[in-house]
Amino acid sequence: MSRSVLVISGPNLAALGSRQPEVYGTQTLAEVHDQVVTEGAALGLDCQCRQSDDEAQIVAWLHEAAAAGSDIVLNPAAFTHYSYAVADACAHARSRGSRLIEVHLSNPAAREGFRQVSVVAPVASGTVAGFGARSYLLALQALAGPESTGRQRAQAR
Ligand code: DQA
Repeated sequence: MSRSVLVISGPNLAALGSRQPEVYGTQTLAEVHDQVVTEGAALGLDCQCRQSDDEAQIVAWLHEAAAAGSDIVLNPAAFTHYSYAVADACAHARSRGSRLIEVHLSNPAAREGFRQVSVVAPVASGTVAGFGARSYLLALQALAGPESTGRQRAQAR
C-alpha cells in the first residue's frame, strides 16, 4: 500500500511562476504539484498537494495529516520565520508519528536576516532548501528512503 504524504505550501506560493522568478523560478505551483505527484507515484508515495495563504488552514491540514498518520512535506513560506502556531502543529504531527520535511525553493539561510530564522526547523525531521522545485522532490526521496521503515524510521523521527 502506498504511504500517503500531504504536501502543503504556504502564503504567496500560489503566485509561483510570476512571483520574483529570479528567486523562485518560473514554474507555476500547478507544475510543481504535477511533478510532486509523478515523482511520488514513482517512489510509491500517494501525494496530495494543497496551498493556502491562511495560517489557520495550514494548522488544520497539519492536524488532519497527524490524525491520518500521513507524512508531510511543508513549505511554510513566510510562516517559517514567525508562526509558532504552525510550529506547534508540526510538533503535534511529529508526536503522532508523522515525519515532516520542511522545504524551501530558495535558500533562506543565504537571504535577508529575517529569513535566517526558522521556527519550524527545530520540530522538522529535516529540511531541504535552495533547489527550486527539486527541493520538494528531494523531500519525497527522503520520505521514501530506507529510513522509512521499522527501527530506522523511529530513529529518523
Ligand atoms: C520560501 C522562503 C520564505 O522566506 C519566503 O517567505 C517564501 C518562500 C521558499 O520557498 O524559498 O514565501 O519558503
